[in-house]
Amino acid sequence: MSETTLTLIVTERQEDRGDILRLTLADPSGAALPEVRAGAHVDILVPGMAEETWRQYSLAGDPARADQWQLGILKDPASRGGSVALHGALVPGTAVQITGPRNHFALVPARKTVLLGGGVGVTPMLAMAHELAASGAEWELHYCTRAPDCTAFADLLDQPPFAGHVTLHHGVRGLDPKTLLPAPAAGTHLYICGPEGFMEHILTAAEAMGHTGANVHREYFSAEVDLSGDSFEVECAQSGVTVTVGAEESIVTALARAGIKVEVKCEEGICGTCLTDVLDGTPDHRDHFLTDEEKEENTEVCLCCSRAKSARLVLDL
Ligand code: FES
Repeated sequence: MSETTLTLIVTERQEDRGDILRLTLADPSGAALPEVRAGAHVDILVPGMAEETWRQYSLAGDPARADQWQLGILKDPASRGGSVALHGALVPGTAVQITGPRNHFALVPARKTVLLGGGVGVTPMLAMAHELAASGAEWELHYCTRAPDCTAFADLLDQPPFAGHVTLHHGVRGLDPKTLLPAPAAGTHLYICGPEGFMEHILTAAEAMGHTGANVHREYFSAEVDLSGDSFEVECAQSGVTVTVGAEESIVTALARAGIKVEVKCEEGICGTCLTDVLDGTPDHRDHFLTDEEKEENTEVCLCCSRAKSARLVLDL
């Protein structure tokens, strides 16, 4: 699946439970969209922002459909403004610039697949449900929301392919994950997507039960960025520039001060756009993009959020 730049058009807009915008996008000429698999996301250029701003959204529709893509966009007034702008701007007929699709959350063959979605984190699970149902695999979806009236996509859940496979849970704080997680087994895979608190709640329980890293797949849709820590130096091997990254400053910001521009999209350690090779030094990984194994290798670092454990990092820039 290669990344492409596309201009698509909004063909349908549906407000769901007040703060979720369900969008259908299609090619304006009716051409087939790029092939996707469940778990893929696209980057959307947010119109009307002072600076070029991209936001990432999982594809929520049936991946087998090449005539349309469906997204669910949560309006978060407390965020940096991208989702609010998208809610305001994306009406039927609007052209939308897209890059992608990219997929860091694809399904792997399994005897049993358990999907766990928190809030709008259910969107990639909806696509996965289509793919799993088409494959004939054993699967179930646990969908956790604050309350019944906070449950987006509820109208879909009693229809194929979801009917009979979905269990709703409300009041996530009181939820005991052990009641919905299966017993660990070699052929059982978990897929978890939701806000940071939900993710940690489920992942901690899964680890305590003995679910191993290779069978536990995760995707964060938002994350707090913690840039605290002592200052350190970053040397760019190609350009020969060295900068000091201050406390509470990102490597991206420090490099920009020295005239080195690093492409970013999410700026929350989720999308991997700013991933850069490390030639020397030890990163302090604070992203949710690299796997635990990749973080241990210390050969790549996300520059929008990660810092350094060593006094100096040498990057392939
Ligand atoms: S810009 Fe998305 S991980 Fe850094």
